[in-house]
Amino acid sequence: TSVIYIQTYLERIRQELKSRLGEFLYYCPVSLALDKELVDCSVSPSLQFAAEFHGHYYKMASTEYLQKFLETPEKFVPPLAPYPLPPMNMLPKRLTTAAVKAMFPRQAEMMGFCPVTFLDGNLRYEALVAGTIEYAVEYRGKIFIFENEEKLDKFMRKPEIYWNLKLPHKLPPKKEPVLLTSLPMLGYLEQGVATAIIKALTAVGCLKPKYPFMSMKKSALLYTAYHLKAFNPKNSTYVRKKYKKKMEQFEDGCQLISYLGSIMTSRYKEPKERPNDFDHKLEIFLALKGTQPALSLVI
Ligand SMILES: *[C@@H]1O[C@H](CO)[C@@H](O)[C@H](O)[C@H]1NC(C)=O
Repeated sequence: TSVIYIQTYLERIRQELKSRLGEFLYYCPVSLALDKELVDCSVSPSLQFAAEFHGHYYKMASTEYLQKFLETPEKFVPPLAPYPLPPMNMLPKRLTTAAVKAMFPRQAEMMGFCPVTFLDGNLRYEALVAGTIEYAVEYRGKIFIFENEEKLDKFMRKPEIYWNLKLPHKLPPKKEPVLLTSLPMLGYLEQGVATAIIKALTAVGCLKPKYPFMSMKKSALLYTAYHLKAFNPKNSTYVRKKYKKKMEQFEDGCQLISYLGSIMTSRYKEPKERPNDFDHKLEIFLALKGTQPALSLVI
């Protein structure tokens, strides 16, 4: 029962504190006057650094600032206080992850880069670091996200120096992997397969493959398929190697045609007049009739 009693008692003090808060609400008047910083003391429920002056309650950020306040309280409250607390709608408000998600499709300012890291890094390109929605603040109706808790805290204290920065034209690429399936069709193709297809088609264009006894269309398609398989970065080195081998054999097959075509003459030549490997290659060529290379790989 005594625990309950103390809890009730503390709760009553908090209620009273709330009803008699001074002009600075839960913000430390000493931090505002001396550092021009907004230090929100509502975060800690402790009343350790609280003081009363002229019937109003004030909460300070530290023992040191409580001491300063107690020495000359009139210097820290109106009319002598150098800076007033900004109006409510001009105070930064921390946002939970759920709150940020609920605000979708509204996006973070600065394309999600951390404004504190950027300004503290002298607005350099290297200081453009993405924020995360775990560290989010709403200020002047805009959402800002930060690299970490420390940067968020700096912003909360002095939002006016960080909120209106201009991004440079050149921006680093976003780090977080884009979910391919979330992209529209063209974007999906561009991000997912464009490079591989361009490379394969370039190879087809350079080689202009025509396999013995196979149509040009089928030869080109099959060669494209081999190329895609042989350079598929998602597959194992072993599988890629196997397909490179198949691709080379296919290329050799294609070369038979131009080779034989360049040697053969309309006039019959005696075997000894023919180049060394001609007969052998002709045999290979003829043996290809009726056998078609396939894409499937037996591992
Ligand atoms: C790797 O290659 C094998 C054989 O072609 C194929 O069955 C498999 O789907 C490929 N894996 C990936 C991740 O592309």
